[in-house]
Amino acid sequence: KPYVVGMDIGGTNTVFGIVDSRGNVLVSDSVKTQEYDKVEDYVDAVCKKLLPLLQQVGGAEKIKGMGVGAPNGNYYNGTIEFAPNLPWKGIIPLAAMFEEKLGVPTALTNDANAAAIGEMTYGAARGLKDFIMITLGTGVGSGIVINGQLVYGHDGFAGELGHVIVNPEGRQCGCGRKGCLETYCSATGVARTAREFLVQRTEPSLLRNIPVEDIVSKDVYDAAVKGDKLALDIFEYTGTILGEALVNFIAFSSPEAIILFGGLAKSGDYLMKPIQRAIDKNVLKIYEGKTKLLLSQLKDADAAVLGASALGWEVKE
Ligand code: BGC
Ligand code: NA
Ligand code: ZN
Repeated sequence: KPYVVGMDIGGTNTVFGIVDSRGNVLVSDSVKTQEYDKVEDYVDAVCKKLLPLLQQVGGAEKIKGMGVGAPNGNYYNGTIEFAPNLPWKGIIPLAAMFEEKLGVPTALTNDANAAAIGEMTYGAARGLKDFIMITLGTGVGSGIVINGQLVYGHDGFAGELGHVIVNPEGRQCGCGRKGCLETYCSATGVARTAREFLVQRTEPSLLRNIPVEDIVSKDVYDAAVKGDKLALDIFEYTGTILGEALVNFIAFSSPEAIILFGGLAKSGDYLMKPIQRAIDKNVLKIYEGKTKLLLSQLKDADAAVLGASALGWEVKE
């Protein structure tokens, strides 16, 4: 069978595509995840767009399998469980639901794990055996690769580094606890920092021209590009917290590289410099200069779709 399907489920968009054995995304489409309060409606909406794509390549019989990357995805059970940034609560047997509707064997894993697989197969992690993928989007996700193997853990949920607590009295997280890394270092975390700084400080800033509830991380980036001091400080704050967390992750698995992926990773030096400074300042002596900080080499949507699709080749029929 010549093709696989890859699907990336994000808090905002769900992107899916048909991929050939060389990693070309032949056709793709998307739906808006948040528009569907009921998961059944969501699955129907996705299938309505995906089935015609399958027809274009000769139908389900041409597909080896489908791989899905999702927040709070569990590889062992094919479920999404208690995802803070998705509309559906509880435990959702999503792989089985898709399999039934599409007639394609389906495997599901965490979205950041899928990105790590994509990066290993087609991107910055080619040839690396030990690295940590960090995805900076609506949430913060991670995929931990040790000795060439993605770590799943005994229950299939290993690598939820976005929910490492960096401040026990800190910001409320969607997971129900306080002070998780993702409340500071995700795109939404950056917007929260902007709102805090704008209240705490009195200096002028380009960000004051935007209604405070409408500020998104891209606005902070645009202001930073124009030299806005407050915006630059927001990146400094975000990068420092992330760098301090990364030195702990380095101590955990001694990775050759940490790869940053996702919308916020495109903030360039505004974010990378403070991260690197915090690493250099805090990393344990034995790791000094040994872990490279890299950016993903894959385009966002493609990387996630490709990563998930790589899982499609491994699905058991
Ligand atoms: C979820 C993770 C996910 C990350 C990025 C977090 O809120 O708990 O499973 O990888 O967001 O989407
Ligand atoms: Na993970
Ligand atoms: Zn959390």
